[in-house]
Amino acid sequence: MSLQRTLAIIKPDAMDAGHAGAIIARIHEEGFTVRGLRQLHLTQIQAEGFYAVHRGRPFFDELVQFMSRGPIIVLALEAEAAIDKWRDVIGATDPAKAAAGTIRKLYAASLGENAAHGSDAPETAAVEIGYFFPGCEVRPSI
Ligand code: RTP
Ligand code: MG
Repeated sequence: MSLQRTLAIIKPDAMDAGHAGAIIARIHEEGFTVRGLRQLHLTQIQAEGFYAVHRGRPFFDELVQFMSRGPIIVLALEAEAAIDKWRDVIGATDPAKAAAGTIRKLYAASLGENAAHGSDAPETAAVEIGYFFPGCEVRPSI
């Protein structure tokens, strides 16, 4: 495996609750290199675009409302096998099923409001990083 990138998001619930600092500290402790970092407040349209793959699902409208209700922090993370590594660190989608010590177990309250996002494949990671870091903000791959 070689160096890989993934897109992480600290979602509005974790931002509201003041967990952003702890989550960013955890990112460093786990050995990720932060290649890009932005705080932003998505419009409804931007949230719909980011989660377009889920359009038509019963939870889509709720998800869009949630993701656009307050600020988020988006991060382009780099590590060996970064995609699986970050998904391991955040834990299962439903915090009730997430392993002890994972970000969702520690900080999430529900399946809908689950503190963090992680890309699920190399193709989606590339699209998602490009969605928030267009142009040359993120240094090209080595
Ligand atoms: P994410 O994309 O945010 O990292 O989450 P994930 O891969 O673990 O889960 P995914 O299936 O991609 O779902 C995206 C987000 O939609 C919300 N969700 N709500 N109420 C529900 O049944 C439901 N199911 C999913 C969650 O916020 C989930 O993270
Ligand atoms: Mg997903």
